[in-house]
Amino acid sequence: MIRKGIILAGGSGTRLAPTTHSVSKQLLPVYDKPMIYYPLSTLMLADIADILIITRPEEQRLFEALLGDGSRWGISISYATQSAPRGIAEAFIIGEDFIAGEAVALILGDNIYYGEGFGRMLRQAARMEYATANLFAYYVKQPEDYGVVEFDESGAVVSIEEKPETPRSSYAVTGLYYYDSRVCDMVRSIEPSARGELEITSINQAYLNEGGLRVNVLGRGVAWLDMGTHESLLDAGNFVATVENRQGLKIACPEEIAFRRGLIDAAQLEQLAADMPGSDYGRYLAALRNTESAYLSDEVPASPRDVAGKGPK
Ligand code: G1P
Repeated sequence: MIRKGIILAGGSGTRLAPTTHSVSKQLLPVYDKPMIYYPLSTLMLADIADILIITRPEEQRLFEALLGDGSRWGISISYATQSAPRGIAEAFIIGEDFIAGEAVALILGDNIYYGEGFGRMLRQAARMEYATANLFAYYVKQPEDYGVVEFDESGAVVSIEEKPETPRSSYAVTGLYYYDSRVCDMVRSIEPSARGELEITSINQAYLNEGGLRVNVLGRGVAWLDMGTHESLLDAGNFVATVENRQGLKIACPEEIAFRRGLIDAAQLEQLAADMPGSDYGRYLAALRNTESAYLSDEVPASPRDVAGKGPK
């Protein structure tokens, strides 16, 4: 069972310069909330409440000012730093004390996941049944930009390659990874790549070699977005705005997830709303407890009749 998670929010955001000269990419707004709310919400949907955020040293205090120790959302947030971009897998060296020999999730700070059934998939995979590592793959137009996973006809994983020139499939390995308690030993067994980084793909390869790697395919009804460029950042913001404004329900609202999953009660939610007077976000939180619960849940309603006619006004 996975109970701990790491958000990797380091990196220099080079492609977003000059915007990222004085602020971390993961603090930039994606429509109505900071980028880091999205991966944080993903971990919370997986029922992971013990979270380590890895940032650049000079930006740690900004994340602390935004998120604190997590207690107001019923979770625990601690912080660590990565002084140079030495690869995604370095998270397991930096985070070794935090991990303390348990299974752990890792999510990249610029990844957005959204879709019906996704929360359930996350929680199911977090049980780590029949798997020593769980990855999440997504069909994309340009797999060569990502780690690429190849399946055989039975759906078993055959290969994983990092940014191959000639991809063997259209399935990208997304930036969310679940590993068993041996991941810190695994990271010591891999060598830095040609670009001098500890590649997450090397860890995945090690788990694949052992036979315990499982890949969960996100269907076409799920959206997976990452935000490395101004274009993709704007696309993600527009996507979130379109869905939120149509439904009047927010994507990746940690306060809502905390309330819905029982981490905070209605009085705490009310206080969080009161802390944001004058903002739409605060008004949304204030109205949440009156929103029909079926619409707050990502569990399957017992039947369509159970929710018919009960939509939020
Ligand atoms: C990293 C990983 C890659 C993965 C991608 C997902 O790429 O190396 O395997 O598919 O994240 O966002 P990077 O963001 O370092 O280019």
